Formats: sequence, C-alpha cells, structure tokens
Amino acid sequence: MKDRELIRELNKILTLEHGHLGMYENFLNHRDKDTRRTFRRFMEIEKEHINKITAVILNMGGKPSIIVESGDIIGQLFGITINAATDREVIKTYSYIEKKSHQGYSDFVTKLEDDSEARNQFIAEIASSNMLEAQLMHLWLEDKLKTLN
Ligand SMILES: [Fe+2]
Repeated sequence: MKDRELIRELNKILTLEHGHLGMYENFLNHRDKDTRRTFRRFMEIEKEHINKITAVILNMGGKPSIIVESGDIIGQLFGITINAATDREVIKTYSYIEKKSHQGYSDFVTKLEDDSEARNQFIAEIASSNMLEAQLMHLWLEDKLKTLN
C-alpha cells in the first residue's frame, strides 16, 4: 500500500472514530446509571482511538483530517437519526455501528498484514487494539440490549 493511500484510509477511520465519540460524549443524557457510567468510559476509549490513529498519521508525515464536513458524522455515514430514538433503539444502533467498526478494522488489519513492510505490521498492531475494543463495546451493547424491552 502506498503512503498516500494508507493515510487516506487512516483518515477515513479517524472520521469514523470521531463519529463514535459523538455517540458516547453525551453520556449524561441517559436515564440509566449503568449506561451513563459505561458510556463515559466508552467516550474515553474513543478518545484513545482518535489519539492513536492521529499519532500514526502524524508519524507517517500525514495530516489528520476528518472527511465528513461537519456535524452528525454517524448520521451522514450510516443514514441513522439518533435523536428521538428510544433507549433500546439507541443501544441497538450503537451495537450495529461497533460491529461494523470491528469488521472494518478487521479488514484493515488483514490488508496491512498481507503487506510485507515492517512499518505496516506495526500499524496493524495499533489498529488491532482498536479492533478489539470495538468488539468489546459491541458485546456490552448486545448484552445490555437483552435487559431492555
Ligand atoms: Fe472506536
């Protein structure tokens, strides 16, 4: 993979990560205390994801930039409106998005691993930790869904 292509791919991931942050940063709006506490930590995790991807782009000599112009990234990327949705719908949507995120990272990691360049193996390791956390979040959300009617 050429550097430019890789940086473009990383900026796409960065955009999605900003979307994820947007899902959790209003954690205080949730009535359920367990959801509030969990989303607060998820927000921190998403910030870590953003920081890691940003660091990789900068270390490659690239410029971190969000691809979607402004506002509701998730809405624009997935065509989903979160406003006015029930708790159950919100959790279900987020679960779907985290599942997609895990799949996206998984494809990205595989692509990097197929590349023999040592640097790309290093980036694959960083991306795989984000991949794992997306899966953990997805699993928590799936589990939470079982408690909601
Ligand atoms: Fe994330």
